[in-house]
Amino acid sequence: MSFRAHLLEETDGKVAGGLVELEESRLPEGEVTVAVEWSTLNYKDGMVLKGIGRLVRSYPHVPGVDFAGTVEASSDPRYKAGDKVVLTGWRVGEWHWGGYAEKARVKADWLVPLPAGLTTRQAMAIGTAGFTAMLAVLDLERHGLAPGEERPVLVTGAAGGVGSVAVAILATLGYRVAASTGRAETHGYLRDLGAAEIVERAELAEAPSRPLDKERWAACVDAVGGTTLAHVLSQMGYGRSIAAVGLAGGNRLETTVLPFLLRGVKLLGIDSVLRPYADRVAAWQRLVADLPLDRLEAMTSEAGLGELPALADAILAGQIQGRKVIDVRRYGAARFFSRLGHRPEAAQALASADGRSDRRTGGGGDAAARAGLGPGGAPGASAARAPGGAAVPPGRRARRRGRAGRRSAAPDHQPRHPAGRQRPVRPRHDRPGAPLDRA
Ligand SMILES: NC(=O)c1ccc[n+]([C@@H]2O[C@H](COP(=O)([O-])OP(=O)(O)OC[C@H]3O[C@@H](n4cnc5c(N)ncnc54)[C@H](OP(=O)(O)O)[C@@H]3O)[C@@H](O)[C@H]2O)c1
Repeated sequence: MSFRAHLLEETDGKVAGGLVELEESRLPEGEVTVAVEWSTLNYKDGMVLKGIGRLVRSYPHVPGVDFAGTVEASSDPRYKAGDKVVLTGWRVGEWHWGGYAEKARVKADWLVPLPAGLTTRQAMAIGTAGFTAMLAVLDLERHGLAPGEERPVLVTGAAGGVGSVAVAILATLGYRVAASTGRAETHGYLRDLGAAEIVERAELAEAPSRPLDKERWAACVDAVGGTTLAHVLSQMGYGRSIAAVGLAGGNRLETTVLPFLLRGVKLLGIDSVLRPYADRVAAWQRLVADLPLDRLEAMTSEAGLGELPALADAILAGQIQGRKVIDVRRYGAARFFSRLGHRPEAAQALASADGRSDRRTGGGGDAAARAGLGPGGAPGASAARAPGGAAVPPGRRARRRGRAGRRSAAPDHQPRHPAGRQRPVRPRHDRPGAPLDRA
């Protein structure tokens, strides 16, 4: 059985991807095979799709840091065929093959059952971004945030994925939400999600003029980091907390210890990736209770796998509003195929055969087969041979071998990971001089 996926390749240090058809035998090891229905676009997906930050260990790689779908097969007693499941985190889509595919195979430990009351599409409308927003609110509550606050709760990067869900949850819980955004066109959208006031991004983006400013906020969910976080720290109310979630505005933090020492301000680090199972289930239950589905729908739009390259640029440029769910059974425009630059004549045949590639319409898939390509017209890399058998050009193979050899000095006969060749690059935070040292 084959399935379709967005596959990333690295060539001469550049990462590019496209749709391919893969045999199920290419799936990595794991106890549970899932028919993926929906994935989503997160900031980290943008980084992976563009090859930024060395988040991926080895290529070819299937990105997509989250997914929801139906179990097809499981060797773990906790799951059986037909169960609906959700996955976020665990470096899926980074170190492990991810959700931008019709099938995924993962460890049972990484899954949670689809929460009752949500469809797989709604679960992914929440996705990693919304799940993280909920973790942030839960941590703020654990540190004293409670209804009845006089001051507003600030959300930075409010019109993005984490921000939109945070605004909607906090407003539903009865807090007065101040939404900070750099996009004037999102003001109405944010008010519809429940924001009581709008704060211009520029107002918070400057480094603070003094370590302690007027106390302004009861709490903050910060998706931006950098000087914005330093600025907000100087404005926190006595004993109040900031949930540091993101770095859309930068990962450096230049501040003083005075907000901590003189105001008892708390800076709470939020990690969604390695959260234990019990935390995950609790967060999903709270999402069902505290995130109204009409507000979730209002912040959600859909895209297909073929739109991912453009979406990656958009999310890294801060241009995505709310949440973008990815329908992995929809492929988008055929013009994407020719961007890969391989077999352009076949891609042309594909484009002129139909002009679209939605499998449910019977569009480009057949045309792709006729053209001797995978449905994406992608190169028939050995790990991703198209049905017609299109092969990677010999020169390209040689370049790849050269690079792999330089990186790993691995002899060619060394066993390979089933998902592709090994590239033993240590994750960024695990290298000397990196921002994070070993725990
Ligand atoms: N800790 C975790 O486990 C975890 C999990 C998920 C996400 N994150 C992080 O959280 C952040 C948000 O993720 P997301 O998926 O919500 O991304 P997103 O949809 O792109 O939202 C980010 C928002 O930040 C604002 N922004 C963008 N560039 C900016 C800049 N240069 N200066 C100031 N504000 C800027 C924009 O909001 P406005 O247009 O409204 O200003 C943008 O919509 C990312 O850094 C992501 O890596 C962390």
